[in-house]
Amino acid sequence: MFERLREDIQSVFHRDPAARNAFEVLTCYPGMHAIWLHRLSGSLWRKDLKWPARMVSNFGRWWTGIEIHPGAKVGRRFFIDHGMGIVIGETAEIGDDVTLYQGVTLGGTSWNKGKRHPTLESGVVVGAGAKVLGPFTVGAGAKVGSNAVVTKPVPAGATVVGIPGRIIVKSDETDAEAKRKAMAEKIGFDAYGVSEDMPDPVAKAIGQLLDHLQAVDVRMEDMGKALKSLGCEYREKELPELHQEVFDCIKERNETKVGQGI
Ligand SMILES: CC(C)(COP(=O)(O)OP(=O)(O)OC[C@H]1O[C@@H](n2cnc3c(N)ncnc32)[C@H](O)[C@@H]1OP(=O)(O)O)[C@@H](O)C(=O)NCCC(=O)NCCS
Repeated sequence: MFERLREDIQSVFHRDPAARNAFEVLTCYPGMHAIWLHRLSGSLWRKDLKWPARMVSNFGRWWTGIEIHPGAKVGRRFFIDHGMGIVIGETAEIGDDVTLYQGVTLGGTSWNKGKRHPTLESGVVVGAGAKVLGPFTVGAGAKVGSNAVVTKPVPAGATVVGIPGRIIVKSDETDAEAKRKAMAEKIGFDAYGVSEDMPDPVAKAIGQLLDHLQAVDVRMEDMGKALKSLGCEYREKELPELHQEVFDCIKERNETKVGQGI
């Protein structure tokens, strides 16, 4: 239980730059309170204690302004930032590392019993005020813009904005830029799902380093190809993978520093 609690608190540090220390997260984050109460109401629901489950859920709504039906399935490291005005329906399913902002509805469009609410796969971000309505899937890593109304499936990694929700395609995004973005997200950038215009000089410097790394990677790949085409004895070897644990470690260290006010 304490392990899960620790993981929940860490997930806040990863996604909210305003979080200062664990005590603050424990006491001042309604999104966390709602998730913990949902764990209780969900376990009562599964034990067929439907009314007590609804009561706990209702208490959570009163306390936090976030309504999560006890039947909704929620993954790990779920983060609701700011809370208030959130509705998550009975048959909604939420994967790991999903982020919702205030005013989001994961709702249904019919009164039929059975699956009628959306499924959000891992890493989905739903912006403030967005409504995702119906029994379809929002693919892993997709982003739903603030105030969008989405009624159709969203492919993994896509960004959808507007009413009705439309997928935005950034035609000028090169392969290298896409890779750089993926790398930046891996180390915890993009807290609000918006990566451009970073005013933080340290973040800017890291961004430039990532660009440079990306350019060096592409150059090395091209050189390898050129050497091969010249018939040189060139042994193609995969570049070592970036291990997530290393970045988690750095993040954890930074968060401890912030917690200690350093
Ligand atoms: C949807 C979102 C993830 C897009 O981020 P992005 O990939 O960096 O996209 P961009 O900002 O480059 O915008 C791409 C295009 O979509 C438009 N757009 C972005 N967000 C939009 C939104 N919510 N509604 C309508 N259009 C939007 C932009 O104007 C731009 O249009 P253009 O190409 O015609 O200029 C981001 O805008 C968003 O809404 N994030 C949620 C943030 C949030 O809710 N924060 C709450 C903090 S309390």
